[in-house]
Amino acid sequence: MAKNTRSASKTATKKSAPAKAAAKKAAPAKAAPKKAAAASNSRSANRGGAASFDEASLLRELFIEELRDIYWAEKHLTKALPKLRKAATNPELANAFETHLAQTEEQIGRVEEVFEMMGEAARAKKCEAMEGLVQEAQQGIEDTPKGSNVRDAALIICAQKVEHYEIAAYGSLVQLAKTLGENEVATLLAETLEEEKQTDELLTELAVSGINISASQESED
Ligand SMILES: [Fe+2]
Ligand SMILES: [Fe+2]
Repeated sequence: MAKNTRSASKTATKKSAPAKAAAKKAAPAKAAPKKAAAASNSRSANRGGAASFDEASLLRELFIEELRDIYWAEKHLTKALPKLRKAATNPELANAFETHLAQTEEQIGRVEEVFEMMGEAARAKKCEAMEGLVQEAQQGIEDTPKGSNVRDAALIICAQKVEHYEIAAYGSLVQLAKTLGENEVATLLAETLEEEKQTDELLTELAVSGINISASQESED
């Protein structure tokens, strides 16, 4: 019953104020159970989706919104990665950031290509998550001594959080593109997804192969 009432007010949101008031007024009346049942049935049909929503175009809009989000995130990263490279102690880690900066610039190009393929202007929408992740990385730099392995360990943790966010974002975009029948778009974005996964693995290797161990020895000194 509560569900039906909620559904009724939802349907009424697009109606005029008097219609809304009428719907509200009608809700508590228990006098016409037959009418209520009929209305409930028609609402159930609407909840089925096909009649009320153009699911395909809503999904397409969602895809474009997500694309705008990752577009902003990648652009933001091109400003952050040089700072991470500069802050890194281990030259291999600094190299990894350098390499990923070049990849990120290519990835931005791919996103722009996808906008074009979808017939949309390339527009970025602020990604609060990426802004936060980059702030954490900056905090990691401030909290650790320059030239220490502990700083590298902190940088790797922050960079992996970034990669995991990107893996989730591109993984979802690839799936959405496939659902939308945009197979070329899916293939293009899958290239980026693969690069993000490889970067994540490289960061794990760097941590496991020495940086974390050196950092632990550092703390014993
Ligand atoms: Fe990226
Ligand atoms: Fe990345």
